[in-house]
Formats: sequence, structure tokens, C-alpha cells
Amino acid sequence: MAKRDKKQRTDTEVEAELNGNNGENDDSRSKKKLRKKNKRKEIPTVSMAVPASIIDNVPTLELATRLAGQIARAATIFRINEVIVFDNKGNPDNGSVLDNLDDESGAAFLMRILQYLETPQYLRKALFPMHNSLRFVGLLPPLDAPHHLRKHEWGPYREGVTVKERDSNSGATLVDVGLVKSVIVDQIFEPGRRVTVAMGTDRNLDSDLPRQVVSSSKPSEEGAYWGYQVRYAHNLSSVFKDCAYKGGYDFIVGTSEHGVVIKSSDLELPSFRHLLIAFGGLSGLEESIEEDDNLKNMQAHDTEHIFNLYLNTCPNQGSRTIRTEEAIFISLQYFQEPINRVLQG
Ligand SMILES: C[S@@+](CC[C@H](N)C(=O)[O-])C[C@H]1O[C@@H](n2cnc3c(N)ncnc32)[C@H](O)[C@@H]1O
Repeated sequence: MAKRDKKQRTDTEVEAELNGNNGENDDSRSKKKLRKKNKRKEIPTVSMAVPASIIDNVPTLELATRLAGQIARAATIFRINEVIVFDNKGNPDNGSVLDNLDDESGAAFLMRILQYLETPQYLRKALFPMHNSLRFVGLLPPLDAPHHLRKHEWGPYREGVTVKERDSNSGATLVDVGLVKSVIVDQIFEPGRRVTVAMGTDRNLDSDLPRQVVSSSKPSEEGAYWGYQVRYAHNLSSVFKDCAYKGGYDFIVGTSEHGVVIKSSDLELPSFRHLLIAFGGLSGLEESIEEDDNLKNMQAHDTEHIFNLYLNTCPNQGSRTIRTEEAIFISLQYFQEPINRVLQG
């Protein structure tokens, strides 16, 4: 599995740094933290799980890159908050085209391309060292997500990378947010860290007014789509069990041609906090169930014990098989209306 890039940060890490550098005592800090926690709006999230085997089954690096690019585009178009790449017991070491690429597995490759594409262009050089797997990423269409702001664009938040301490003992750090000049934030961060910066109202980049580093979930709390997180799971059960959201996924949908048929306009999803939509590989989710040691008491057809809903999103298909990358677009379009009804309801 690919280790998370050292320079990619979690909210917890950023919050720890923010809390560790303000000179307050523990008591006032924890009270403040508690107030902040209580105030934080919990935003409903939509995750999708995709099997790494789809990469292992393509014949060339260029095609594998294009496939990963399609997954990233689908995630962005449909405002997916988290992509989980899961392995099957059977798929490592099966002679993939990626075997020669610095020993990178299909899962590591897919995660790398997904993370690379999610990162605004101006940050990629600083955050992604050169890697053979990135050889064809230049061919991919950009995600053009709301947080991929151009040099001349202004927004309330920008993604940035910490550059260096402004001057020694200044207590401030320069952050490259993809504008003509770096901005100043009044906390100290080690260089090479991805951060989300609240830009404030002062558009004068020559002013010394410091900006604020905020949690990366802040823009989403205000309704913006701010990209997706990428997570690895070593099998299907880890997709569910290692959920990064507090309380876990509260509604899980499996997709399959063997699922029930419900018209999208008739589908009533419950009011979820964290929805997960799972896709299978060449032999479907049922094979992933069978191969999973943690699900060994289950039979392949026991889908009703694993998923809240096992759904066929493309009935009357004209081709005998719908490929995973096609099913992702079809299914996410299918879920648009039902999800919106929940979010707006
Ligand atoms: C090549 S298909 C797998 C076919 C396999 N025979 C099966 O039983 O699902 C790969 C994946 O695409 C998705 N898929 C294919 N057809 C679908 C359909 N009609 N409805 C929903 N998802 C579908 C599922 O996630 C499936 O695991």
C-alpha cells in the first residue's frame, strides 16, 4: 500500500499545530477547543469505494493513468468527499503492467494519481516528488475543481503549501497559495505542508496583514465542494471498519447488476451523515465478499447483511457487462437526485 504522502496533512495534525502555537495554557486551550468543536457544523459526506483490481487489469501504464483520471473526474463532477481504494485478496502480484514501476501496486498507483489530480496544479511540484507512475498524468483532463483556483482568481479560501518561516523568530510562515506573491500566516509550520488558508478581505498582497490557516473542512462547512480525501483499505470489510468519520458510515449501498431495481426518482435515502457507495471489480462485490477473511461467515449472496441497499442502477443493460468505470458515472448520476432530496430536505 502507498503510504500517505508525508506532506499531505490531516485536519487533526493542522489543528494540533494551530493549538500548539498560540501561547495559551492547557485549560483555556481545551475550553476553546470544546467550544470550537461544539460549533463545528457536521456536514453530510458521500464516499465511494473502488477496487484496485481495475488498475491491475489494464495492459499499459497510459491506459491505467487514463482510467485513474476517469475515477478522479467522476469523484469531482459528483462532489464525492472520500474515495476508498480497496484491495482484493486475490489481486496483488497478478502480473500487472505496473509491476515494473518501483514495485507500485495497483492500489498505490490509483491512490497516487487520485491524490495528484485532487491537488491544485500550483502545489503539485512542491508536494509530489517525481515518480514513474506520474509519467502520463500530463495527458489527463484537469479536474477544474472549485479549490483549483487560477493565479488571477480570488476566493475566500485557497489551498497552499508552507514555504518557510518569514524571518527568524517572527512567529509567521510564508505560504504559497498560487498567487503572484506568497501570503503570511501568523503561525509557524514546517515547510512543505499543505494547508487551507482563509484569505480574508484584504486583496493587497504587499500588505503584511497575516491570513489564517483553517481546517481543510472549513470551505465545505460553508457549502463549497473542496475536493476528496483518498484512503486505502486492504479488503472490503476494512472499507467499512476503518471509516475515518466519527460514528462510521450510516448508510452503505452496494452496486451490482444483481441488485434491486428502483427508479432514481422513487429512491428514498434516509437522512444520512456519512453515505458510502461501493463498486466491485471484474467479478463484482460478491467476489470481494467471498475473498474477505473477516466476512467468512457470509456467502457471496448475503449482500443484505453487508449493505443497507444492493442496487442495480442500470437495468436493461444492452452490454452483458458494465465496466466499473462506466458504472461509477452511471450510478453517481443515478444518486444525484436522491442525495439532493436528503441534503435539501
Ligand atoms: C464488471 S462489473 C461486475 C459484474 C459482476 N458479474 C457482478 O456480479 O457484479 C463491475 C462493477 O460495476 C458495477 N456494475 C456493473 N453493472 C451494474 C449495474 N447494472 N448496476 C449497478 N452497478 C453495476 C458494480 O459495482 C460491479 O461490481
